[in-house]
Formats: sequence, structure tokens, C-alpha cells
Amino acid sequence: MGTAERGMAMERQGCCAILNTKRVTVIICVLILLTLAIAGFAVLIRTTETGGSLKYVFITRCKEYLETHDEVRVGIDCNEVWDAFQSSFVAKDPCKISVEAYDGLMNTAKQKVPCNEMVFWSKTKQMAHKFTQAKKCFMTLEDTLLGFIMDGLTWCGSQDGNDTYTSGCPNWNTCEQNPVRSFWSRASAHFAESACGNVTAMLNGSIDKPFSAKSIFGSVEIKKFNPMKINYVNVVLIGRENYPMSCKNDSLQELEKTLIPKFKYTCTTVLLSTILKCLEDPQKPCGPCWD
Ligand SMILES: *[C@@H]1O[C@H](CO)[C@@H](O)[C@H](O)[C@H]1NC(C)=O
Ligand SMILES: *[C@@H]1O[C@H](CO)[C@@H](O)[C@H](O)[C@H]1NC(C)=O
Ligand SMILES: *[C@@H]1O[C@H](CO)[C@@H](O)[C@H](O)[C@H]1NC(C)=O
Ligand SMILES: *[C@@H]1O[C@H](CO)[C@@H](O)[C@H](O)[C@H]1NC(C)=O
Repeated sequence: MGTAERGMAMERQGCCAILNTKRVTVIICVLILLTLAIAGFAVLIRTTETGGSLKYVFITRCKEYLETHDEVRVGIDCNEVWDAFQSSFVAKDPCKISVEAYDGLMNTAKQKVPCNEMVFWSKTKQMAHKFTQAKKCFMTLEDTLLGFIMDGLTWCGSQDGNDTYTSGCPNWNTCEQNPVRSFWSRASAHFAESACGNVTAMLNGSIDKPFSAKSIFGSVEIKKFNPMKINYVNVVLIGRENYPMSCKNDSLQELEKTLIPKFKYTCTTVLLSTILKCLEDPQKPCGPCWD
């Protein structure tokens, strides 16, 4: 036997020995590889399929919401809501999505919010959500089905096909008629239109202009408030220590002037620390934190 031949024989023998002694290991390895390949393929299919992971997040959040909100469960099918959502913007120029494009979606996910419970916010998003989380008799738009599903998400389509994207989409200010901004305008308008009884508006008393006519609150919501249904608009100005913001600030007076002809209006300043304490106070299970 030449050196080369012997080397090959030994190699083959070594290979067989490994196969014999480690057969089980090899089988397990093959199984793991196969599983990985299938999983990888599934992910590939899912992300290239129209909607991809956005659809997954959408449906998951929708089902989660319906599971915890018996009162809106009836008659809502998450796949139908997704179809209505998607048809608002797929295969269209992402800078030409009108507010009305979401009308169909709003009809598919109709939800009635009880009077006196609606909370509007401007530059106080986190605080408003902490508040409605703690005090269950208040609701923001993000506590309704559609607001809950879309909160924090980005999406758009393209005129070149039926795909849905979650990156490379126009920003809030890139163009006015982008899919995200038009959605929030439409959903906010709907939420405001349906408001009844007392409404609460939480504004930020740590900034120079707590009320901005350009915000969603200023440009959409207060314009949709219905004087026939709304009793009081109660503004809560959340201030921080040693910062003398008051309801007499120019910006609040502008708001007052806009509202006063049509609505009864109150404005209360409350310190951030007072609200935070109130959130944890079980003696105040539902009442507002600024009495
Ligand atoms: C008010 O706005 C400031 C600056 O954007 C922010 O840091 C603060 O958390 C806001 N306050 C409330 C109560 O939301
Ligand atoms: C997009 O969807 C529409 C309607 O389902 C279909 O008619 C069209 O062929 C699709 N276009 C592409 C590029 O897949
Ligand atoms: C509505 O708001 C007014 C003014 O803050 C208050 O006096 C009244 O009790 C409120 N009503 C309800 C039902 O919350
Ligand atoms: C009140 O409003 C004016 C003008 O809108 C602003 O310059 C000022 O900083 C605001 N804040 C306070 C605490 O007065």
C-alpha cells in the first residue's frame, strides 16, 4: 500500500468510526439542521408575503384587545379589520393617502366609548396613558381598538406593487398625506366626533405653548367636538414644580377663545407630582386627580 492509499483508507475508516460511534449525534444534527432550514424558509415566506410582520403585529394586538374588552368583541373580525386597513394604502403613492382613505377601516372597527370618559392629550402622551391605565374610567384614543393596534407603528405601501413596508416610509412631516399621519387624523376625528358629556384635555405645562393650533388636538380634535353632545371641555394643565405656567398663559387663552363660544370650559393646573401620587392612591379609584 502506498502512503497516499493508506492515508485515504485511514481517513475512510476514521469517517466510518465517527459515523458508527456518533450515529445518534449525526441524526440529531441532521434533524436540527432540517428544523432550522424549515424555520428559515417560513420566516422568508412570511416577510416577503404582503404585509409580513406588520400583519402579524396587527392581528396579534387586535386579538389581544378583543380578549380583554368584552364590550367590543361582538361583530369584529381581526382579519377583516386588517383587510380594510391594508386596502387603505397598498399599491398607492405613500404621499397621497388621504384621510378619507381610512373611512372603510373606521366602519369595520366601530366602537362606542362611554360619555364623560374621553381623554385628549397634546404633548402629554405618556402621562395620559399612565393615567388611563391606572384609572379605568377614562380612555384615550390609544385605549380604543384601532388606536391600540396602531400605536407606535409605521407603515406604507408603494405604487409599484402590493407590498406593505414598515421602513423607508415617509416621516410625519415628509408630506402631509402620508399613511401614518392620515390614519391618526382620521382616527382622532372619529374619536372626537363621538365624544359626549365631559371631555378632558391633558396639556403640557412644561412647554411654552401648551396649546398649539397645529397639533392634532388643535387642528383636528377640537374642530370635531360636537356642541350638541359635549357638556364641558375640562382642560388639565400638568405643570412641574417652580415653573409658573398658568391657565392665563397666552397659549391657553387662545384655546379658551376657540372653545368658549360653543362649550363650557374649565382649566385646572395640577402638579405632575400630585398626579403621580394620585395614580397610586387606591382611595381614588376612578375620580380625576385634580379636584
Ligand atoms: C412635557 O413636555 C416635555 C418636553 O417635551 C416632556 O419632557 C415632559 O415629559 C412632558 N410632560 C408631561 C406631563 O407629559
Ligand atoms: C395587486 O392586488 C390586486 C388586487 O388584489 C391585483 O389585481 C393585482 O394584480 C396585484 N398586483 C400585483 C403587482 O401583484
Ligand atoms: C363635568 O364637568 C364639570 C366641570 O368640571 C363638573 O362640575 C361636573 O361634575 C362634571 N360632570 C361629570 C358627569 O363628570
Ligand atoms: C406663556 O406664553 C408665552 C407666549 O405664548 C411664552 O413666551 C411663555 O414662556 C409662556 N410660559 C409662561 C410660564 O408664562
